[in-house]
Amino acid sequence: MAAQEELELDTLEGVGPVTKQKLEESGIYTIMDLAARGVGEVAEAINGDSAKATELINKARAKLSELGILSKDFVSAKELFKKRQSIERITTGAKSLDDLLGGGVETGAVTEFYGEFGSGKSQVCHTLSVTVQLPKDQGGLEAGAIYVDTEGTFRPERIAEISEARGLDPAKILDNIIVAKAYNSAHQELIIREVGRQIESSKVKLVIVDSAVAHYRAEFLGRGTLAERQQRLNRFMHQILRIAEVYGIAMVVTNQVQSSPDFFFGDPTRATGGHVVAHTSTYRIYLRKAAKSRIARMVDSPYHPEREVVFVIDNKGVDDPSEDMPKRRGGS
Ligand code: GTP
Ligand code: MG
Repeated sequence: MAAQEELELDTLEGVGPVTKQKLEESGIYTIMDLAARGVGEVAEAINGDSAKATELINKARAKLSELGILSKDFVSAKELFKKRQSIERITTGAKSLDDLLGGGVETGAVTEFYGEFGSGKSQVCHTLSVTVQLPKDQGGLEAGAIYVDTEGTFRPERIAEISEARGLDPAKILDNIIVAKAYNSAHQELIIREVGRQIESSKVKLVIVDSAVAHYRAEFLGRGTLAERQQRLNRFMHQILRIAEVYGIAMVVTNQVQSSPDFFFGDPTRATGGHVVAHTSTYRIYLRKAAKSRIARMVDSPYHPEREVVFVIDNKGVDDPSEDMPKRRGGS
């Protein structure tokens, strides 16, 4: 990884103090941020000059290649294989659920947990912000978490309980979770723009947005502007996918649905092709209640067969069912 100074915006030819400030005001703090943005966004940041925006983005990308950070646009399958091997995983707290995910929640990808109210989405998020801190040999990444709380449901007491049940020091665990409360969708978008900076300045490997959709749903309710909502939500999703890829962190989002899956990432049955990136980097797990336990199903994954597993929620957060309960179910 390049040194921090090498990624400073003003090391780029054509970025003076004024441009730097404008870029920063739009949440672009490093050359990496710049390289990851689209021309429209950068142009907007620097008063609408798209020619200059294009030039800056190209320069940023060239600089990253020079530093060996950005691999070429076309990579060999061998390189791709190597890249996939560098992916790290965070245990969810339950072996069954880890199995379903191919070993845990992946870095460099967006994982969406969706389901009805009370299906356990927020509990999964709480548990992950603890388990990401575990030593690597116990399924963690020895790193902190950022928890973007949009529904006001983050509970530090619950983090303390889960930590204690897992034999961890609650004070230490709580200290490594940065909580950002988002009051509306615009605020949520602003927070996400700041996230890159936070990731760089503190050791963070997991970013949670619980829930990613609640504000959009509430604000666009009954306005008849579904298209606008989808557009904003899409932009948000692409933004967080970019952050996951650029910083190599695990991005976990939740989405409440009423009984049938929403169109969060588009129609899950749609053929592969259009949104290749979203398709290759995104996992969707459908959660539902079943008596005292929870059932998780991987939907629409390029790497995992569709099947269901059982887990429970107890004082350790997400946990494996006890021995006398069925561990696995066939697909439904
Ligand atoms: P919405 O945000 O309303 O859509 O629901 P959600 O999917 O986020 O549900 P959540 O993760 O909040 O799960 C709620 C369920 O988890 C409850 O019905 C309880 O069964 C369980 N739960 C929540 N808090 C605790 C706790 O402190 N201890 C235990 N053992 N279980 C809990
Ligand atoms: Mg919740």
